[in-house]
Amino acid sequence: MKNLVIAIDGPAGAGKSTIAKIIAKELNINYIDTGAMYRAVTLKCLQNNINIEDEAAVIKLAKETEIDFRDNNIYLDGNIVNEEIRSIEVTSNVSNVAKIKEVRYLMVDVQREIGTRNSVILDGRDIGSYVFPNADYKFFLIATPEERGSRRYKELTEKGVQVKLQDVIDDIIKRDEIDSSREFAPLVKAEDAIEIDTTGKSIEDVVNSVLNRIK
Ligand code: DC
Repeated sequence: MKNLVIAIDGPAGAGKSTIAKIIAKELNINYIDTGAMYRAVTLKCLQNNINIEDEAAVIKLAKETEIDFRDNNIYLDGNIVNEEIRSIEVTSNVSNVAKIKEVRYLMVDVQREIGTRNSVILDGRDIGSYVFPNADYKFFLIATPEERGSRRYKELTEKGVQVKLQDVIDDIIKRDEIDSSREFAPLVKAEDAIEIDTTGKSIEDVVNSVLNRIK
């Protein structure tokens, strides 16, 4: 049987990973968090004191790096870095790493390789528009910046991270701008993607909207 590919795209904090993980379980398929891959490269840059503005250095490092996503774990050169990639420092630098075309080529190769091996649901920014333009199903999740910021704020404060709500909202807006305006494979809704506004909706509601389209 042909592998199933489901793309879940949208801006930061729209609920993509939460929804994608549940759908993956429901359908018994693999889940790939493509944002985690860009975060892992960013983490390695920071660990190695690479200046993110120095594109050539970032590209060189990315070429010497092994990234994988398996069983809900992100691997950086063979080590699981699930926690480290969520730091505020990584979050505020990742969009500038993800805008580098050569870095994207490397990550997209890994994503396509995994996607052609198994049935998968991938969450990201360019999955339906660039990585898998022929995906079986494409969804584009959106929500207001205030709602997205509040969700991130809740996640962070529950983990004990001290932040201001407005700073989290501002950071999300800034990342959206960088992600949407980059030249290569920007954050964009694929023409044939189904848009779901998750503002004010429960996780269950959104999961059901997605599953109803698939089944
Ligand atoms: O989904 P996230 O917040 O973990 O994504 C981190 C960053 O990576 C985000 O700023 C945009 C970028 N990204 C991307 O450019 N393309 C993807 N397919 C996934 C994420």
